[in-house]
Amino acid sequence: MKLKIIGSAAGGGFPQWNCNYRLSREVRAARTGLTPRSQSSIAASADGANWVLFNASPDIREQISNTPELQPDTDGALRNSPIKAVVLTNADVDHIAGLLTLREKQAFNLYASTRILDTLANNPIFRVLDETLVNRIELPLGGTTQIEGPDGPLGIEIETYAVPGKIALFLEDNSDPVNFGSDDGDTIGVRIAEPGADAGAAVHYIPGCARVTDELRSRISGAGCLLFDGTVFTDTEMPDAGVGAKTGARMGHIAMSGDEGSLASLKDVDVARRVFVHINNTNPVLDPASPEREVVARAGWEVGHDGQEVEL
Ligand code: MLT
Ligand code: MN
Repeated sequence: MKLKIIGSAAGGGFPQWNCNYRLSREVRAARTGLTPRSQSSIAASADGANWVLFNASPDIREQISNTPELQPDTDGALRNSPIKAVVLTNADVDHIAGLLTLREKQAFNLYASTRILDTLANNPIFRVLDETLVNRIELPLGGTTQIEGPDGPLGIEIETYAVPGKIALFLEDNSDPVNFGSDDGDTIGVRIAEPGADAGAAVHYIPGCARVTDELRSRISGAGCLLFDGTVFTDTEMPDAGVGAKTGARMGHIAMSGDEGSLASLKDVDVARRVFVHINNTNPVLDPASPEREVVARAGWEVGHDGQEVEL
């Protein structure tokens, strides 16, 4: 299986369009070591020709331009795409807005939890994806699904499970001050592998996660690779930076640091390779020269970047 991180940033990207925080400023000024990152998405393929996209980012058009594997086959039909299926892990704007770019009468299968599919069904703009061409297929929580394209199985099997998280920002119910109306299936994690592959050849992709539970630890144990929520380094990073009032927890994202953070809570889990994705533009690990980057590197974590291939 081939796997590529095509967008390693959180919502907003790096730099974010309206952000004048030091990191966005420095990457715009092309300061050495800082690399622009597009919004959150990965792609996987069993045969190198047919691809499954996990999340459809608002930057998908540019991501396809930067990824030859995702471009139309020059020997194929006048309209064709190697993207045969899309899997969504939540209904946040950074994960669904790219669906609007995938219009123009192209067939593919769209997989998501019931909660996420309901969000799409309740937003008439997603009718641009012609339902006679784009099948919407429900993913079970805690079950296994063989991903198929319009012409049959793609040789990729996924296991989908609810993770602690939050409903999409634009759906928050303020009459529920604790969970904002969130329910199981609003945020999911995905185990991605070829059917019958050893655990060591499986990847877990979890770009949004509020907390690491014992259940999650045992689920990912033994995996070849973990691509995990790297939104913020400290929970109060956005207020501390002065860019906004929200903590990581309020956004449904675990911090990297701290006793309950991802570095500490995943420390003893048996995973061969661990890579942060969905990195917010305030996260100091974006700077390879930062002490925070050294902390994550010493803990055995990579900071994902656009175009990064994960060999399994
Ligand atoms: C998130 O990951 O918290 C969201 O992408 C935020 C947003 O929708 O802007
Ligand atoms: Mn997001």
